[in-house]
Amino acid sequence: MKFFVDTAEVDAIKELNELGMVDGVTTNPSLILKSGRDILEVTKEITQIVDGPVSAEVVALDADAMIEEGRKLATIADNIAVKVPLTWDGLKACKVLSGEGNMVNVTLCFSANQALLAAKAGATFISPFIGRLDDINLDGMDLIADIRTIYDNYGFETQILAASIRTVNHATQSALIGADVMTAPPEVIKKMASHPLTDKGLETFLKDWEKTGQKIL
Ligand code: G3P
Repeated sequence: MKFFVDTAEVDAIKELNELGMVDGVTTNPSLILKSGRDILEVTKEITQIVDGPVSAEVVALDADAMIEEGRKLATIADNIAVKVPLTWDGLKACKVLSGEGNMVNVTLCFSANQALLAAKAGATFISPFIGRLDDINLDGMDLIADIRTIYDNYGFETQILAASIRTVNHATQSALIGADVMTAPPEVIKKMASHPLTDKGLETFLKDWEKTGQKIL
């Protein structure tokens, strides 16, 4: 499973990247706002840190303008994935931009039918939003499972990028279902290392070690 980091915070990306945890990065307009940085400048910096796909999102609503924005974002670096919303115009933009050889990430996916259309339009990645479905009392994991089944039924090569991951359980479930990629905030990725029994066990080992009176260094 590939790990993308869902942030535009350069320091957090660098820290995880040094551990080999970063196969790519996803950003969106809200994350750019949070970073306080210029989109072109911060995206360029991220593409220089990370070798894998870095998603940068268009903000236009009509297909022609999305295509123009997407072409501009794609000039930032070779590893840009242009992110377009899952609207009819977004699908048109996906078709054109992917036809021109760009990676395209179709975002804001909330149904299996939307994912099916994105695959038909040549999307490199489909981003189903798990947490936002959970927010309205639906099960985001069901959507990931449905898309996995549909894509496997027909051999679609579009990669399922489990997004809007808020908890470590979302990460586990996405991996069990077979999402190709997950994108999660840095704090969720770091939390995956935590277990209370690890902390408890370490405490006991250190207490017993102290009693031995020994030193390693
Ligand atoms: O990758 C999409 C993600 O940024 C959305 O997450 O937590 O805002 O629903 P969230």
